[in-house]
Amino acid sequence: MKELTFLVFSDIHYGKDADSSDFTVDAVPPKGHIKNAVSKKQNLVGTLTGKQFNGLFVLGDITSVGAPAEFVGCSKVVHEIANQLKINRNNVMFSYGNHDVNWHISKLADLEEKDSLYLNVAASTGAIFCKNQDFCDAHDIPGTGVFIREDFVVFVANSGYYSTHNQEYSHGKLGPEQLAWLRGAIDKHSSASKWNILVLHHHPFNYPYPTAVEDISCLTEGAELVDLIGQSKIDIVCHGHRHHAKLHTAWQTGWVYPKTFFCAGSLAVTAEQRDNGEIPNTFHTLTLEKRTKTGAAFGNVTTYQYGSGDGWAQVRKSRVIPLDPVQKFGSLATSIEMQSLAQKIVQSALPAAVTRALLPSLDLLPEELQCVSLSDLNKLFPEVCKKMGVMLTGKYPDEVLVHKI
Ligand SMILES: [Fe+2]
Repeated sequence: MKELTFLVFSDIHYGKDADSSDFTVDAVPPKGHIKNAVSKKQNLVGTLTGKQFNGLFVLGDITSVGAPAEFVGCSKVVHEIANQLKINRNNVMFSYGNHDVNWHISKLADLEEKDSLYLNVAASTGAIFCKNQDFCDAHDIPGTGVFIREDFVVFVANSGYYSTHNQEYSHGKLGPEQLAWLRGAIDKHSSASKWNILVLHHHPFNYPYPTAVEDISCLTEGAELVDLIGQSKIDIVCHGHRHHAKLHTAWQTGWVYPKTFFCAGSLAVTAEQRDNGEIPNTFHTLTLEKRTKTGAAFGNVTTYQYGSGDGWAQVRKSRVIPLDPVQKFGSLATSIEMQSLAQKIVQSALPAAVTRALLPSLDLLPEELQCVSLSDLNKLFPEVCKKMGVMLTGKYPDEVLVHKI
């Protein structure tokens, strides 16, 4: 499998809900604008210059209110970023969210003698002004289709299609026809020799959040979709919506191999929409490195957070961003298996004739341990060493030394 890297944006909310004049119509200063803030766009490009990307995902809520000018503006700025980072224009992939339905138009469905076709028009604005290029097997629902490339296949579903001004569908929804299409498209186009990626806006299950709230975000057909993913060749699901980054790998009974679910954070929304600013705006790079012996995709998500004074910088894991700066994914182990792995590593580092030694560096640890957060890893090894009667100094990702007492 060829190693691939994608740039991942979600929840730009171009327009009135954006927190940067880089993402507002006519560069109007946004609410609570901080004067002399570092440019989100230029600093992002500067941060990533020299890196190579195979594509760019925009995971929905491209706009604030689904206005044509917002789609045009967002498409322009996203393509400018892609162009400056030398990302092929055809590999800029948009999915649409609940904010990408034009509410002015959807209201006409109530007013104009209950003409429900206005809902279709309202949900088609994005596909007119912010279009996916070289998109094949497209479904009647705008924005739903497949990107087929030499090394990867990206399936795009539109979970915001049924969203309207009156929030009749407060959750994301695919609808039976789109779900059936997705099942058929995955069956037809997924390939064991390529990376198979599903992108959509809403999440397929409820997540715990920093503040417990009633969930109104999960996809109506979440359980069916997760079942479909588990039994298919899909390697990873990328979605947005909750402005709160998450990443985990799961393997359920009946699934062909472990699957990774990645919820990207928001790129540019105002503080009110980020737990009153507690959660920073973020973007991510996603690298698919190899397949593990289970068949799962192994790779990493690198996350950057924005500060108005310093621009974009790699995150530090916290309650609100539960990801290491470079978070590996794809390999699973129970806590007993991890203790056993750690014990074997310490034992092999300290054979009978050796009294002190360095433990292997992070990238040489077994895949299962590379996927553990640094904070958990730096608890695991001291606990194991304590049981073994071995002294340990240092912390991952830096050097870790063990010596016999
Ligand atoms: Fe959303």
